[in-house]
Amino acid sequence: MRFTVAIDGPAAAGKGTISKGVAAHFGFAHLDTGLLYRAVGRRMLGGTDPVTAAQELSADELEQGDLRTAEIAQAASKVAVIPEVRSALVDFQRAFARRAGGAVLDGRDIGTVICPTAEIKLFVTASAEVRAQRRYLELNAKGSDVTREQVLADVRERDARDADRSTAPMKPAEDAVMLDTTDLNIQTALAKAVAVIGEKLPTAR
Ligand code: DC
Repeated sequence: MRFTVAIDGPAAAGKGTISKGVAAHFGFAHLDTGLLYRAVGRRMLGGTDPVTAAQELSADELEQGDLRTAEIAQAASKVAVIPEVRSALVDFQRAFARRAGGAVLDGRDIGTVICPTAEIKLFVTASAEVRAQRRYLELNAKGSDVTREQVLADVRERDARDADRSTAPMKPAEDAVMLDTTDLNIQTALAKAVAVIGEKLPTAR
């Protein structure tokens, strides 16, 4: 069975947790596409040209070290503006999306550019304040000494860059189902996503 779930939305809206939960629920493979941009961003911070880094990127790199730092998030958002970086990463994402057994991809442009014919598209949002608070708690638990204000400023800066870029800007696909998690706990948000996806799943699998 080929079945693609496209989950887009801004940083810390709950996409990652929802995507992992949905993949576990339905037995689908999951790709966090932000990791591709983060891996390229990390290489740029190390002095590599981002287009070369994207062209040479290997799946192993996504597993190495901690890509989920605030510094790498900003670098990822910067390299993600470059059209050649984006185009170098398209084939890998599309192949993943059409693998047998079903796939969940989360990112910013999955429903609009990477998989415009995905069987189901979700756009997960939440207020910037709530997203910043969630990200702050995550970073804090890892021992980072960032302040709430820094995290909120960071989230706003990244939202603006991701939404305003000219190539594949972050935006909901016209046929995306909107899921606002501002006032939802993770169990409720996941249950809603599972229900929406379940309706689209072919009955004979
Ligand atoms: O989802 P994330 O926070 O790990 O993403 C890091 C950055 O990568 C994000 O700010 C923009 C970029 N990105 C993108 O442009 N397109 C995607 N599909 C996924 C991430």
